[in-house]
Amino acid sequence: MIGSWDKNESNRSRATDLGCSCSETMERQRAVRFVLCLLTSGALVPVVVWAADNPCAAGPPVDTNPAECCPTPMLVDGTIMMDCYQKYGEQTKKQLKMDGIPRGCCIAECAMNATAMYADGMLRREDLSKMFMDAVRDKPEWMALVRDATNACFELAEHRMEEIEAGAKLEPSFEGEQICHPISGTILRCMGMMLFAQCPASVFTVNDNCNKLREYGSICPMI
Ligand SMILES: *[C@@H]1O[C@H](CO)[C@@H](O)[C@H](O)[C@H]1NC(C)=O
Repeated sequence: MIGSWDKNESNRSRATDLGCSCSETMERQRAVRFVLCLLTSGALVPVVVWAADNPCAAGPPVDTNPAECCPTPMLVDGTIMMDCYQKYGEQTKKQLKMDGIPRGCCIAECAMNATAMYADGMLRREDLSKMFMDAVRDKPEWMALVRDATNACFELAEHRMEEIEAGAKLEPSFEGEQICHPISGTILRCMGMMLFAQCPASVFTVNDNCNKLREYGSICPMI
């Protein structure tokens, strides 16, 4: 299997996680919310903003479920996400409250393992792109967005490589903490944010709450 991995170095990403926002499944759970913040500059190259001037610190401005505003496509099988959330949800909630180098999201890594997309600190970019595109094969309004977001998110991960690698080397800081490589969470969370922020007009519910949430969701991760 390893032999079939992308040979091109630029197709690999080893980068840092900023927590994880894995899918609508978790958005619905809303157990954990907005922790770190990505500010999009030019929409494609997010920049991390830390607590001091973190516009995300107060959480979302409204209590509306993001899925009611924009039914973003499930990029990873829902059963897998639910299963991984059950295994790692508690740990992830704790980790998201911690300062310092962002810890990898085990929910995301668990999902990438279950779909055979992850090994040794790398995601199979080509296969993952196919899986994402397959998830929207009946949703033409999402296709270009998903394709572009995948590219943008891998680019983001490349920019964050140092931080991602540092996150992968952290030691457990509480009993039972499992350290995961941040690459999976970085990509899945980035995808979720991009899709929500750029929700096609044809499926976006226009009302005050949803507009506020979209504004917030375009700069802050929503889990
Ligand atoms: C994913 O699989 C790797 C082995 O390739 C393993 O070391 C790691 O613990 C797994 N991660 C999770 C979250 O299950």
